[in-house]
Amino acid sequence: MQILIIGGAGYIGSHMVQLARRAGFAVVVLDDLSSGHADALHNVELVVGSLADRALLDDLFTRYRFAAVMHFASFIQVGESVKEPSKYYANNLSATLNLLDAMRKADVASLIFSSTAAVYGNPDYHPIDEAHPKQPINPYGRSKWMVEQILEDYDRAYGLKSICLRYFNAAGADPTGSLGERHLPETHLIPLVLQAAAGRSSHIAVFGTDFDTPDGTCIRDYIHVVDLCDAHLLALQHLLATRQSARYNLGNGEGYSVQQVIDTARQVTGREIRVRNEARRAGDPARLVANAHRVRHELGWKPCRAALATIIADAWQWERKYPWIVAPA
Ligand code: UFG
Repeated sequence: MQILIIGGAGYIGSHMVQLARRAGFAVVVLDDLSSGHADALHNVELVVGSLADRALLDDLFTRYRFAAVMHFASFIQVGESVKEPSKYYANNLSATLNLLDAMRKADVASLIFSSTAAVYGNPDYHPIDEAHPKQPINPYGRSKWMVEQILEDYDRAYGLKSICLRYFNAAGADPTGSLGERHLPETHLIPLVLQAAAGRSSHIAVFGTDFDTPDGTCIRDYIHVVDLCDAHLLALQHLLATRQSARYNLGNGEGYSVQQVIDTARQVTGREIRVRNEARRAGDPARLVANAHRVRHELGWKPCRAALATIIADAWQWERKYPWIVAPA
């Protein structure tokens, strides 16, 4: 069975390509390589191009008979989305709409969509379940929530079925060390902490120590990229088998503070990690922790690499194996 993975050369997308192929799917990747890396793909057909290019999409959907599409291609930096909303709405919303219409025309009616915990904004209660009010507080979160709403309309009107997966904090790397996170610039906590451990930066900046949490630093729910991809595979199989749209949170249901992440990274790496306390980053909620009962119950998802030390150890292996920041591919 053939599937199209958009953004398959990126961090999560490349792990998904590997897993989908192992599960027996024939995969074609569409990626504009704006943040992905062609060398993250091995023996996979890569089409380099933009989701905004309708002629390219129509051509792809004519050449292949895709059973489903998985869509990982989006801009993900909250701060940047506040400064440049146009970039976020053009890519995350408008280009996605282009995809949906190309799928509709080609009669491809199954989509796995990467959404985010940012659709919930500042949470009213914890842990956050899927019914929690959607009140995104930045253009990034709004762009994802708008697509989720459009998908409901497209389901009702055109029968386009989708599963939206709301990620909490994706982290870690393939345990064999063959794939990992390569954002340029990197903004995520765990890779930045490990860059400090490796001596590739002088310190890790801690954004805020005065939050209403036990140690004053922000709490997040970190989920291993491999567990995240397992959930995508289950979602894909479920969607193809049942033709039922659904929305699921993807997190472990355990929160760890920035300070706990740094302490665990010190234990895992055995390295000194210097810390500099800085002001809060705009728009960071104090705590984001998932209630992920629905995905466990309905899809039978069970994370295998949930421990924070495992997530950090896998990311550390990747960090040490690939000094990519010096010579990006
Ligand atoms: N942090 C630091 N120092 C850094 C980087 C991050 O202290 O150098 C802190 C942040 O303030 C935050 C925590 O570490 O408290 C995690 O930050 P990340 O940037 O790693 O992740 P976010 O929680 O900000 O963002 C993630 C996804 C986004 C998504 C968001 C949902 O990366 O795409 O969750 O709220 F929008």
